[in-house]
Amino acid sequence: MKQTYRKIHIGILGCGAIGSGIARSTQKELKDYCRLVGLFDTDIEKAQGLAKSLRHPQLCKKSYADLVNCCELLVEATTDKNIKICIEKTLIRKRSVLVMSVGKILHSPGLFNLARERQCSLLIPSGAIAGIDAIKAASLKKISQVTLTTRKPLSGLINIPYLKNKGVDLSQITKETVIFEGSVASAVRNFPQNINVAATLALACRNVPKITIRIITSPEFRMNSHEIELSGDCGHIICRTDNVVSPDNPKTSYLAVLSGIQSLKDFCSGIRIGT
Ligand SMILES: NC(=O)c1ccc[n+]([C@@H]2O[C@H](COP(=O)([O-])OP(=O)(O)OC[C@H]3O[C@@H](n4cnc5c(N)ncnc54)[C@H](O)[C@@H]3O)[C@@H](O)[C@H]2O)c1
Repeated sequence: MKQTYRKIHIGILGCGAIGSGIARSTQKELKDYCRLVGLFDTDIEKAQGLAKSLRHPQLCKKSYADLVNCCELLVEATTDKNIKICIEKTLIRKRSVLVMSVGKILHSPGLFNLARERQCSLLIPSGAIAGIDAIKAASLKKISQVTLTTRKPLSGLINIPYLKNKGVDLSQITKETVIFEGSVASAVRNFPQNINVAATLALACRNVPKITIRIITSPEFRMNSHEIELSGDCGHIICRTDNVVSPDNPKTSYLAVLSGIQSLKDFCSGIRIGT
């Protein structure tokens, strides 16, 4: 007889590329581990469309509060610049949260303390980068140098105020060009939808005083690629991903969607391979 396990009740906040991908996976890869109980998006048509495509129109909730009421774990996959407040409210209600907008919680040690205090989990998937497992282990001892070099196609960089203010005209770029070099905080502030991986890297490295972020573009680039180079007491680590872009959002790597799905699977199954 097939053993049945209790499934964790999942709610999805934000029904774009990542939220939709994770929602669809609850009927496929995650169907034995969790149950999708609700969806909410400030663009109500998106939530309704997704719920309909999953053949469960009743999944579409009227508000964020209705969504939090019905779930045990909230998947945050929004573009809301104030989403930290929602994450905080969700933890206060003793719901675990999987955060995709990592840049929005970069300087928020209070959230991590709150999760511990409320005895719930704050999950941060590796997203579009590789090596977070090794980097977390390396961070137990001294890390002397970390660099993240991100290569993005021009299509993933449109409508970015920072580039406009710097006078960067993407249509005039004909060869490989470094469009940003600076700190994690500056990268996350100036490229809020493009460089969540920098925030994930910084959280994994913990107390490293300086991480250099470099963003390069070229008309030749077709993929989002992220290369991490780290030196420390553990030795030298180089990790690179060449990511196809998500079919629903050229700013988002498909691997980020898959990483969110795998994080949920680890959490719901209680099995975690890797550091
Ligand atoms: N961690 C990573 O590696 C990684 C990788 C890619 C993207 N991201 C981040 O994940 C988030 C989602 O990415 P995406 O590609 O799915 O974006 P998307 O633009 O495809 O979808 C975002 C959705 O959120 C909705 N939304 C905005 N504010 C909301 C709110 N307050 N409540 C509910 N819904 C709201 C929008 O209407 C939209 O449908 C973004 O913040 C993105 O920067 C993280």
